[in-house]
Amino acid sequence: MRAALALAVASGASLAVACGTEKEFALIRRNAIERRAAASSALASAPAGAATVATGPAAAAPTVPTATRTDEASAAKVTNPAQECQVYSYPPVAALQAQKVFPPIWQIANLSTAQPEVVSLFNALNGSIPKINPKGTPTGDFTGVNYNGAEDPDCWWTWKQCHTPKVAGLPQDIYMVPEPQTWGFTLDDGPNCSHNAFYDFLNEQKQKATMFYIGSNVLDWPLEAQRGLADGHEICAHTWSHRYMTSLTNEQVFAELYYSKKAIKDVLGVTVQCWRPPYGDVDDRIRYIANSLGMQTQIWRDNTFDYEIATLPRAQIEANYADIIKAGQNGTFATNGTIVLTHELNNDTMALMMENYPKIKAAFKNVVPIGVAYNNTQPYVEKEYTYPNFSQYVAGTLSVSLAAPTAVSTDASLSIPLSSGASGSISATVSYASNTATGGSAANAQSSGKSAAGRNVEGGVFGAVVAAIVGAIGAGAMAVLV
Ligand SMILES: *[C@@H]1O[C@H](CO)[C@@H](O)[C@H](O)[C@H]1NC(C)=O
Ligand SMILES: *[C@@H]1O[C@H](CO)[C@@H](O)[C@H](O)[C@H]1NC(C)=O
Ligand SMILES: *[C@@H]1O[C@H](CO)[C@@H](O)[C@H](O)[C@H]1NC(C)=O
Ligand SMILES: *[C@@H]1O[C@H](CO)[C@@H](O)[C@H](O)[C@H]1NC(C)=O
Ligand SMILES: *[C@@H]1O[C@H](CO)[C@@H](O)[C@H](O)[C@H]1NC(C)=O
Ligand SMILES: *[C@@H]1O[C@H](CO)[C@@H](O)[C@H](O)[C@H]1NC(C)=O
Ligand SMILES: *[C@@H]1O[C@H](CO)[C@@H](O)[C@H](O)[C@H]1NC(C)=O
Ligand SMILES: *[C@@H]1O[C@H](CO)[C@@H](O)[C@H](O)[C@H]1NC(C)=O
Ligand SMILES: [Zn+2]
Repeated sequence: MRAALALAVASGASLAVACGTEKEFALIRRNAIERRAAASSALASAPAGAATVATGPAAAAPTVPTATRTDEASAAKVTNPAQECQVYSYPPVAALQAQKVFPPIWQIANLSTAQPEVVSLFNALNGSIPKINPKGTPTGDFTGVNYNGAEDPDCWWTWKQCHTPKVAGLPQDIYMVPEPQTWGFTLDDGPNCSHNAFYDFLNEQKQKATMFYIGSNVLDWPLEAQRGLADGHEICAHTWSHRYMTSLTNEQVFAELYYSKKAIKDVLGVTVQCWRPPYGDVDDRIRYIANSLGMQTQIWRDNTFDYEIATLPRAQIEANYADIIKAGQNGTFATNGTIVLTHELNNDTMALMMENYPKIKAAFKNVVPIGVAYNNTQPYVEKEYTYPNFSQYVAGTLSVSLAAPTAVSTDASLSIPLSSGASGSISATVSYASNTATGGSAANAQSSGKSAAGRNVEGGVFGAVVAAIVGAIGAGAMAVLV
């Protein structure tokens, strides 16, 4: 006999509250698709051989001389945000798209046009994926989802921030860093087309971060994605189209993860081994597929809620930053450090980070990328990229050796060490094995409580989820299944 909660959250008041809001993403997706479509005729008639910029009437003014956007270094020098965000075509990406190597950008990825070997890879995996039903919708509406909340059988982060999988063989999620007084610096949702001023700032500060790039953004803004690698940041994947992953079918989840990993490989030249679920929406089914594709799941411990800048007062986001900064000064992180959720989503989130950065540096002993905090000096499959370990980084070595970003123009297979069809086996191993900590949820809930203003709850993400569900139960929506 099992008691189950029927989660009856009103649509729009979704459980998960992280990353750019779904509404904002709907806009970003539509804008990207429309901009590309409008510029395509101008781009098609432009000469091949270099990144070309649409100059037709469809392209947003002002136009940018083609010569300024030919490679990573030249694109990095464009400083006018409007010019930075002007559509251009990068020949390697155009060639890959012409070969139908990728699904359409910003659509939920599937395998309908996948190469036979990719389909074979999925088929070899599918039978062993934990039998967990998809939950809710891709936009995060969990209305009517039946879930045994007391047992949290799927280790569903959205529900209670579970990060220790219940399916055997899966590694624990990375959500904190073991080094005391340390801010694990992560930036989600990039590459943003207008990030040059922000990336220049990071360079001036001699600061590296872990960047979670969206596959569709990587194809949309390939030279900006290359800049992240060239600047010495650690690159991880953030799915293909930024949907709530637990809502998707096995095939869609596989495709969302596979194609984001492949976009980074084909455009930057590195095979990433880490990813972060949009909105933190992950359960053991999703973790299993990610792990099988050689990617460790990374979430966070503290949340600035910077992505809510469009809907919350700026002062509220500032207060969230201030809270985490205060925790950096009052002993909260005396024995271990935090991973903080921040974004390069738009101008405002980047500006907030730049503004708070000096205070973060003053309050925390170390501000480091996640790989650095775990002494993971070779985060990619390719070994010609070596990052400093923790002691090197804090002593001032910010880069050890980094090959230049390199894009390919023809389909190259992504090396995924799946065992061929053997049921239940996970052969991909990743190198963050030492994270065995517990206790992040409380800290996350603590800091995020402040930003739940308007949600009318105390206690932050966890509290918001519980309150939403309790509210629903109060409204008579609870079902006890036996
Ligand atoms: C797969 O994705 C394409 C592109 O978004 C879409 O048109 C198609 O309907 C999808 N196929 C299935 C079976 O969902
Ligand atoms: C994958 O496996 C599930 C069962 O776990 C099944 O329902 C689904 O149809 C399979 N998908 C494909 C594309 O074969
Ligand atoms: C430290 O500051 C944080 C943020 O304001 C607060 O939640 C926490 O209770 C404080 N801890 C101590 C030990 O004072
Ligand atoms: C990048 O930032 C700009 C400026 O804030 C914003 O308008 C745009 O939607 C962002 N683009 C992406 C792809 O995130
Ligand atoms: C982004 O910020 C810059 C200043 O840093 C400003 O010049 C620009 O207009 C902003 N762009 C958008 C789209 O808000
Ligand atoms: C990283 O290396 C430092 C020594 O420089 C060590 O103290 C620390 O425990 C290591 N961290 C991990 C996660 O292995
Ligand atoms: C960090 O790198 C330095 C230089 O290569 C090395 O001497 C040290 O042992 C490394 N520390 C760890 C924990 O691996
Ligand atoms: C991290 O620190 C907290 C106290 O702030 C403690 O409860 C927890 O056990 C620590 N975790 C590890 C792995 O040291
Ligand atoms: Zn995100």
